[in-house]
Amino acid sequence: MYAPPLAGEPSRSVSRAARLRGEPRLPGDKSISHRALILAALAEGESTITGAGDGRDVQATAAVLAALGATVDRARDDGLNVDYRVVSPGADGLHEATGVLDCRNSGTSLRLLCGVLASLPFFSVLDGDASLRSRPVARIIEPLRSMGAALYARRSDTLPPLVVIGRPRLRAVDFATRVPSAQVKSAILLAGLRAEGRTTVRESVATRDHTERMLRSRGIEIRREPATSSGGGPVAWSLEGGARLRPVDELVPADPSAAAFWLVAAAIHPDAELTLRAVGVNPTRRAAIDFLVRMGARIEESRAGAPAPTDPASGEPLADLTVRSSELHAIDLGPEEVAMAVDEIPILCLAASQARGRTTIRGAGELRNKESDRIAGIAGGLRALGARVAVEGDDITIEGPTPLVGSHTETLDDHRLAMTFAVAGLIASGSTWIDRADSAAVSYPSFFTELERLRA
Ligand code: S3P
Repeated sequence: MYAPPLAGEPSRSVSRAARLRGEPRLPGDKSISHRALILAALAEGESTITGAGDGRDVQATAAVLAALGATVDRARDDGLNVDYRVVSPGADGLHEATGVLDCRNSGTSLRLLCGVLASLPFFSVLDGDASLRSRPVARIIEPLRSMGAALYARRSDTLPPLVVIGRPRLRAVDFATRVPSAQVKSAILLAGLRAEGRTTVRESVATRDHTERMLRSRGIEIRREPATSSGGGPVAWSLEGGARLRPVDELVPADPSAAAFWLVAAAIHPDAELTLRAVGVNPTRRAAIDFLVRMGARIEESRAGAPAPTDPASGEPLADLTVRSSELHAIDLGPEEVAMAVDEIPILCLAASQARGRTTIRGAGELRNKESDRIAGIAGGLRALGARVAVEGDDITIEGPTPLVGSHTETLDDHRLAMTFAVAGLIASGSTWIDRADSAAVSYPSFFTELERLRA
C-alpha cells in the first residue's frame, strides 16, 4: 500500500543545560481529565472541568463524547490546559455516532469508553492510530462480554479497531483482572453502573483509583476491601448498578506522571532546583516520587498552597514539590512496584543510568503493551546515549553512573520516550536528537517550551 510521507514529525535537538531553575507549568492529570469528561457525559446536566490536560489523548476523549451527543465546550485554554463545560442529556440520552470513534493514540480513551459503550444500546466502532491498533483489547472484551455486551475486534478479538454493541441491562460480574490495569478496572466499573446487581473488580495490586474516587464524589456508593487506601497490595472495588451520577465541578490536579520528568531532570543535573505546584500525590500514583526519594533524590514535599490542599470534588491530595541536584544510588524494583509506577519506568531508567550501582527492574512486561514497546524503546535510546542497559526477558538492568553523550534517539512516536530522551539531553554532552519529538503533545503540549525556559 502506498503511504505518503508524513508531514511534520519534526525532530528536535536538546543541548546540555548549564543550570536548571524555575517552576515548570504542568498539564492537568491525564487520567483524571479523561475520567472527568466521561463522567460529565454520563451525568445529566452541566459539569465543569477546570485545568484538564490539553494533550491530544484527552482531546480524543472529548471528541468521542461530542460524537455521542454530549455538548463539550472549551471555555478557556492556555496551550497546556483547558477548562471544559459539558452539558449532557445523561447516559440514557447519548446516541449512536454516525462515524468511527477515533481514539487516536489513547489507550485510556479506548478502554474506558468501551466500558461506557457496553451499556449503551447501539453500535459503535472504536479505532485509533497505528500504535493504538497494536495494543491488546482482549483484556477488555472478556469481562464486558461476560456482562452481556457484544464486542468484536480484529485478529480474533485481540486488536483494534473494535466494535461494541451495547446492552441496556448488563449482568453484574465479579471479575479478577489478569494484569493490574486501572483501565480495565475502570471499564468494568463504568459498565457496572448500568448492570443489574453488584459488580466487583479484584486486582492483585492497587492501581490508580481515580475512577472510584470520582464516582464517589458524584454520588455513587462504591465499596473498597480492605477499606483503607494506603497504595499497593490486593484490593477489591464494588458498586451496585442503577444509581445515577450527579454533575459536579471538577478541579484537575497537576499530573504526577508529567512531574516525574522534572523530578528526574533536577535530581540528575549538577546545578538544579525546580518547584512543581499542586501535583496530585494520590497514594496510588505517587510511587515514582517515593522510588526517587529511596534513590536519594532531594525532594521536599509540602501541602499545596494553591489552588487547595485537596481537590474539593474528587478528594485528590495535592502537594508542592521542590527537587534539587542529588547523588542518586541504585534501586531494585519488583513487578508490584513496576505496576505502581507503570508510566514512570522510562524516566526512572534514565535516573538509574545516573545512580551509583546496579538498578534492577523486574517483571516489566506490561511496558511492551504501552504506546510503544517501552522496554525496547528505553533500552535503545539510553544505549544510544552511552548508558549501560541490559534487558533479559521482562527484566531491565542498568549500571550507573554513566556520563551520557549526545546522539540520535528513536522515540517510536511515544510521548514518554520523547520526554525521557529530552531530559537526558539536558545532561548529555553535545546535542541529543529526538526523532518525532512532537509526540510529547500527546500528554504535555508545552513540554519543550518549559524545558527551554528552565535553562534560561
Ligand atoms: C491509565 C492506566 C494505565 C496507564 C495509562 C493511564 C488510566 O494503563 O499506563 O497511562 O488512566 O487508567 P493500564 O491500565 O493499561 O495499566
